[in-house]
Amino acid sequence: MKILITGVAGLLGSRLADWVLENTDNEVIGVDDLSGGYIENVNSKVKFYKFDLVDQSQVKALFENEKPDIVYHYAAYAAEGLSPFIRKYNYENNLIASTNLITNSIQFDVNRFVFASSMSVYGDTYDPPFSENMQQVPIDPYGIAKYSVEQDLKVALIQHGLKYTIIRPHNFYGINQNIWDKYRNVLGIWMYQILESKQPTIFGDGNQVRAFSYVDDSIIPFWNASQNDDCIDQIINLGGIKEYTINEACKILINVTGSHLKPIYLEERHEAKYAWSTWDKSVELLEFEHKIDLEEGLAKMWEWAKTQPKRNRFVWPNYELDKGIYEYWKDK
Ligand SMILES: NC(=O)c1ccc[n+]([C@@H]2O[C@H](COP(=O)([O-])OP(=O)(O)OC[C@H]3O[C@@H](n4cnc5c(N)ncnc54)[C@H](O)[C@@H]3O)[C@@H](O)[C@H]2O)c1
Repeated sequence: MKILITGVAGLLGSRLADWVLENTDNEVIGVDDLSGGYIENVNSKVKFYKFDLVDQSQVKALFENEKPDIVYHYAAYAAEGLSPFIRKYNYENNLIASTNLITNSIQFDVNRFVFASSMSVYGDTYDPPFSENMQQVPIDPYGIAKYSVEQDLKVALIQHGLKYTIIRPHNFYGINQNIWDKYRNVLGIWMYQILESKQPTIFGDGNQVRAFSYVDDSIIPFWNASQNDDCIDQIINLGGIKEYTINEACKILINVTGSHLKPIYLEERHEAKYAWSTWDKSVELLEFEHKIDLEEGLAKMWEWAKTQPKRNRFVWPNYELDKGIYEYWKDK
């Protein structure tokens, strides 16, 4: 079979590609525009295409050439907190790029479409844990884009028979993560800061609650999502069996790295304060197992981070909207 993985240079996509190539006889076709991932993450056996999925004609040409059997759609810019300030980019990159892929998956008879949605679709209306049957009420453009793609997939199944599975991952981290982007993924941001001997930054009081999972614990569940027919037309949360406050998570990382730096507290952000999800459905349908604890996972990631090239920190040259932007993002 031909497996197409978008976002193959990113955290989740690169690790799934490695696993598929090492453990199955399937061929992996990968797409990434390298806007947020690195070519060094892409397995040399991946047939790699570099382009932006917003370009419908290139998506079509890819499907004409490769005719994939299964599509894993990971490509997105997952800077949730920044998404209100880069609205057009967010919707083009996270929504239009996705519909381009869905259109061609319908046209070229893809057997299964697995979409990496997000826990952000739950917003802050409910008390956690968030379960799959709760109505989505996202609170920012990133979550709205994910929600819209979910709805588009439902219609694509009803009208065109595209068999999809929606996975809502929750705070995966690990090797191959982009730690150079100043706007996203709290553990990556802290790891970069500690590597640079800078104090780790916390938005607000640090009492926000999240659960974290190591990237390798996502691989078997994502693989099963396309292999198990019971997953068709299903939405499944993935990750996070143990909650931590952001203060606790920061302390663990500081201990793991042996650093003596202390966190500094910045202006709070517009975000859900308490957010974690149920995981029973992922155990039942995807065989999810939380194998790697936060301490162990961060230790692996720290060892990897120390071997990484010194890259410039990614900073947006211009925001689309600077009204209401936080002080710490004004400073470039
Ligand atoms: N990591 C998590 O915990 C988590 C949580 C919730 C949702 N997700 C979702 O899972 C997916 C993968 O997450 P990740 O952590 O691996 O992110 P990532 O940033 O590491 O990987 C995304 C990859 O997509 C590529 N990309 C982005 N826009 C593109 C475009 N228009 N065309 C081609 N390539 C493009 C980037 O260059 C990057 O390599 C994303 O859709 C994200 O929203 C991840």
